[in-house]
Amino acid sequence: MAIKNIKDDIEKILIGEERIEEIVGRISAQIDEYYKDRGSRLLLLGILKGSVVFMGDLMKKITVPVEIDFMKVSTYGSGTTSGGSINILLDLYRKDLPNTDILIVEDIIDSGKTLSYLVEYLKLKGAKSVRTCTLLDKPERREVDFEADWVGAVIPNEFVVGYGLDYDEKYRALPFVGVLKPEVYNI
Ligand code: IMP
Ligand code: MG
Repeated sequence: MAIKNIKDDIEKILIGEERIEEIVGRISAQIDEYYKDRGSRLLLLGILKGSVVFMGDLMKKITVPVEIDFMKVSTYGSGTTSGGSINILLDLYRKDLPNTDILIVEDIIDSGKTLSYLVEYLKLKGAKSVRTCTLLDKPERREVDFEADWVGAVIPNEFVVGYGLDYDEKYRALPFVGVLKPEVYNI
């Protein structure tokens, strides 16, 4: 069997590697500026699995001291639409939340349900502060009122893959964000 190149399934690149580098540089500088001179601990909280590539690049550029952790949530629904209710599959266990500033790192905001739920949840758990940053934002798809504190790029209402984002668990390893060829969905 021939080895398949995942790049062959991409119709167009939406956010290329250079643009991603710019985004990571800009957001990490803004995070450094915002969280400098704080006595509390800063926790980068990645939402599995989509955020891992962005999180890895971002944490290398941030210069203020950070700790990392991960949560995993499922939004019921599959394929190219995100679903309704949110289920916590991997929770955050941490003793000193009242002394922790949490920065949630997300791949993309679609309906807004995941992040609006998580922000409230982590505040209720007692975090000192909860802020959010996302690589991508699709504001046209919003179902609940939610805005991230730091946004990498606003994109149109198209399903995207790469740089952590998947379709059916594939394409996460692509170094850019792109749109799949239509025939990929029909096989
Ligand atoms: P929300 O709760 O509707 O904002 O859903 C956000 C989640 O849906 C993201 O963390 C992604 O896992 C998934 N998602 C939304 N849009 C896309 C997309 O275009 N490509 C891949 N995953 C997406
Ligand atoms: Mg996700």
